[in-house]
Amino acid sequence: MSASTERARRATPSDIRARKGGTPVVCLTAYTTPMARLVDAACDVALVGDSVGMVLHGLPSTLGVTLEMMILHGQAVARGLDRACLVIDMPFGSYEEGPEQAFRHAARLMAETGAQAVKLEGGRHMAATVAFLVARGIPVMGHVGLTPQSVNAFGGYRVQGRGADADRVAADARAVAEAGAFAVVLEKVPAALADRITAEIAVPTIGIGASPGCDGQVLVVDDMLGLFGDFRPKFVRRYAELGDGAAAAIAAYAEDVRARRFPGPEHVFTAGEGA
Ligand code: KIV
Repeated sequence: MSASTERARRATPSDIRARKGGTPVVCLTAYTTPMARLVDAACDVALVGDSVGMVLHGLPSTLGVTLEMMILHGQAVARGLDRACLVIDMPFGSYEEGPEQAFRHAARLMAETGAQAVKLEGGRHMAATVAFLVARGIPVMGHVGLTPQSVNAFGGYRVQGRGADADRVAADARAVAEAGAFAVVLEKVPAALADRITAEIAVPTIGIGASPGCDGQVLVVDDMLGLFGDFRPKFVRRYAELGDGAAAAIAAYAEDVRARRFPGPEHVFTAGEGA
């Protein structure tokens, strides 16, 4: 296979799994086709996260995200990808009842979007569901530590696994890895715990607010581009301030319209001109 054919090949969950201990897996969220194209050019995994509810729809948490929302955004992202592995979140309420419910909804997400895997939140209590899906051909990415769909049970978006709580989070990560997950997201856990889990489980850990020692990293793309307002969590490095640039551009447009500087002569049509 030539280098260019190699690059054009779509990354699969098995490829991601094989990266354990190797070059870190690069993952960003995407919710739209244009953003998916940008993510596809540089990342191994494009995650249609249920963070879409907060980031694009203005919801107060991810709890109001529906299967239909995930399908629409999943379809949009799929249209922008050539090489990144497409993983889609199972929204709150679509999988917790049991393995059959999870299979029904995961199958719909995959069939209607072309996603190659689903991600679901939860540790030991979700292990049977992970095993059920994997046995039926649905690759699963796990997600332990701070699981935002449980924000009400946690009482906020707090770091998980501090002190004596570390063993609980480690046991959760082991359970989903042993159940067959091809990778496990570790969200907002102490760095030493993330390193311990990375050493303990056989599949890649994908950190967010975890440790540089994880086998990969994920961020919400709008956060790292500075598009999501004043939200500046400790674990995000802002690689751009696109929100400021957009605000300045919109203000300049508004001034130009009010002063009749836009449209200019180059933007209007004459009676005789073609399309
Ligand atoms: O919904 C999401 O965007 C996520 C990642 C940040 C891990 O679950």
